[in-house]
Amino acid sequence: MSDPLLALRGRRIVLGVCGGIAAYKAVEVCRRLVDAGAHVAPVLTADATRFVGALTFSALASEPARTALFDGPEPIPHTHLGQGADAVVVVPATAKVIGKYAHGISDDLLSATLLATRAPVLLAPAMHTEMWEHPAVQENLVTLRRRGVHVVDPDEGRLAGGDVGAGRLADPARIVVEVAGILAAAGDLAGYSFLVTAGGTREPIDPVRFIGNRSSGKMGYAIAEAAARRGAAVTLVTTIGRPTAVSGVDVVKVETAEDMAAVVVPRFADCDVVVMAAAVADFRPKVVADEKLKKRDGVPEVVLEPTPDVLAELGARKQPGQLLVGFAAETEHVREHAAAKMAAKGVDLMVANDVSAPDAGFEVDTNRAILLYSSGSSEETPLLDKHELAGIILDRIVQTLGKEA
Ligand code: CTP
Repeated sequence: MSDPLLALRGRRIVLGVCGGIAAYKAVEVCRRLVDAGAHVAPVLTADATRFVGALTFSALASEPARTALFDGPEPIPHTHLGQGADAVVVVPATAKVIGKYAHGISDDLLSATLLATRAPVLLAPAMHTEMWEHPAVQENLVTLRRRGVHVVDPDEGRLAGGDVGAGRLADPARIVVEVAGILAAAGDLAGYSFLVTAGGTREPIDPVRFIGNRSSGKMGYAIAEAAARRGAAVTLVTTIGRPTAVSGVDVVKVETAEDMAAVVVPRFADCDVVVMAAAVADFRPKVVADEKLKKRDGVPEVVLEPTPDVLAELGARKQPGQLLVGFAAETEHVREHAAAKMAAKGVDLMVANDVSAPDAGFEVDTNRAILLYSSGSSEETPLLDKHELAGIILDRIVQTLGKEA
């Protein structure tokens, strides 16, 4: 097996250190990163220097430790650090830095650097259990994760002052492996063109009413954003007005299944990968009333007709080298129904969900999926945050693209 730390070689890592008792373990993270061949630039907050000396990091890292935004020789060290970094890692990440980062507050060198970078960021939190479990901290982490920030959850164990519980800094060796994994994944979709659909289509009945569904678009957005972060050129065709959390995604707003087909089908020839995460209506009203239907006119009779099946249309046009990913929203016989859709629509990877489960599928932040491959193999995921599931789906896409190359 290849060395899991290989991705660190020659990469520039900003190592942020905050004021917590676990700051002494950041010394070991620093040493391990340097040993693996990374170039480490340490940034200590003022509180960190109460726990560990800047000199320790200056001696072990690749350049002298920085401790302040204003007192060094560089006029704007945060942009220099942020722009030049391949990754920013914060060990330990205290409740304070997590809160500042989630709210865009930049009042020292580390918090300014976090805002001045487009590189992947990994936080390794450490704090007492009460602080770790506080809703303010957890909600800030949800916000940061949604923006693509990576978090190595703390372990349970002995804490400062003799307490025992959740909040102990993850093992330094694990943190370093996580950084290597993030760097290995960053950029692995560079050169690929993705089209992702998200949200539920709305089929108008009259100017104010429509037939819709419960799709929130969260899964499609998570995939589009993660693909862009990994270097792909991404078009997101969405029924949701929300902008993406990642810049550079070409967002096209649509409303109906027919709109979606009109945008997606002509672009298909230029795509390497299409992910149809949208919940597309199968039927639409045959006649759309020009004026609002009035109650006084009695119960309306809405006659439906089929919409275009976008995925099936793409499956019929697919060329060698193109990859088609479908989603199957099911409420029973999930695997069988998804496999049948996969075969019928010419899909390479089908992500099947039981949307009747309260913690998976529509509207919620989590998902549990069965991934079906055209080879006939399959895998089941545990309950995951939609961003984590997006990462797994993209990992599988990378593997399949690699096999075809
Ligand atoms: N899909 C599509 N166009 C449609 C309907 C569905 O492109 N008119 C796509 C969805 O984006 C999804 C896949 O087909 O990737 C499966 O959608 P799903 O709603 O689960 O299945 P249907 O084919 O609509 O079948 P049914 O509603 O009978 O379960």
